[in-house]
Amino acid sequence: MITGKFPSLRLRRSRMYDWSRRLVEENNLISSDFILPIFLIEGSNKKQPIKSMPGVYRYTIDKLGFIIDRAIKNKLPTVALFPYTEKKKKNYLGTEALNEDNLVCRAIRFIKKRYKNQIGIMCDVALDPYTSHGHDGLINSGIVLNDETVKILVDQSLLQAEMGCDILAPSDMMDGRIGKIRNALDKNGYQMTQILSYAVKYASNFYGPFRDAVGSKGLLKGNKKNYQMDFKNNNEALREVSLDIKEGADMILVKPGLPYLDIIKLVKDNFKIPVLAYQVSGEYSLLENGIKNKLFNKNIVIESLISFKRAGANAIISYYADKIDKILK
Ligand code: PBG
Repeated sequence: MITGKFPSLRLRRSRMYDWSRRLVEENNLISSDFILPIFLIEGSNKKQPIKSMPGVYRYTIDKLGFIIDRAIKNKLPTVALFPYTEKKKKNYLGTEALNEDNLVCRAIRFIKKRYKNQIGIMCDVALDPYTSHGHDGLINSGIVLNDETVKILVDQSLLQAEMGCDILAPSDMMDGRIGKIRNALDKNGYQMTQILSYAVKYASNFYGPFRDAVGSKGLLKGNKKNYQMDFKNNNEALREVSLDIKEGADMILVKPGLPYLDIIKLVKDNFKIPVLAYQVSGEYSLLENGIKNKLFNKNIVIESLISFKRAGANAIISYYADKIDKILK
């Protein structure tokens, strides 16, 4: 592998100047690498700060035009929509998920009507924004029921596809849901609706600020360990991914991001399928608070984002996506 030896070989030679560092750089970021998550709220003319995520806001649908215009101008390929569901609309079964006038459905219709296919729309498939207990599916004595939940996820997928969602992203971690969703989509004329499987989603402590952002923070009873993956495991990730590929996933997501770069690389080395990384809310807030408190300078953001590319990610879901033009400058 190594040709030559010290002192005739000096690796510092190419590090001497900015131009020569640029000449040999192996990884880089472009705006097409980024998916922008957008938090939605009811009402009009509101841009509401999220306490636990400095610099991130919830928007009413009438405010979306501004954000989507910018996203298209910056060449972001896709936005991901997440609703803050009012408490009165949540219940034990999460039935609001199947309401065609829920916040997400109205937002999809608004964006599709105005922007057609200038930008992709991605939506989570899971019940946690809608359940009064904050879990991703139906529960019985604290355990999320698998097959019963999958039936509802199939209906949620069909509804979101009908509204115009381009990428369905099941983030629920039920067994067998990718196959059932693919099958239902194909049968109902949505052969071109893509599936991004959150195949490798860990029961992580890094999701705290997100749960605040979507209003499920105080509600969650217990934890999600009976369906999301154990963070002690890596080989299991390969089993999850291989099943979801067989069931019809177009792309695979690894989540969280930074603490799981080994998993991104593991999946990418074993399967030649697009792999996306999710730089989750906790990672974002750690970085932002560190910058705010002057523990880090701003370049820590680009360093963290490049690490995803080094690990092999094709794209990154990141709360920095709307600032990416500034970050890349
Ligand atoms: C819900 C979902 C979660 C995130 C995305 N979709 C939270 C969870 O599973 O509890 C987390 C995203 C983030 O932390 O930024 N299924």
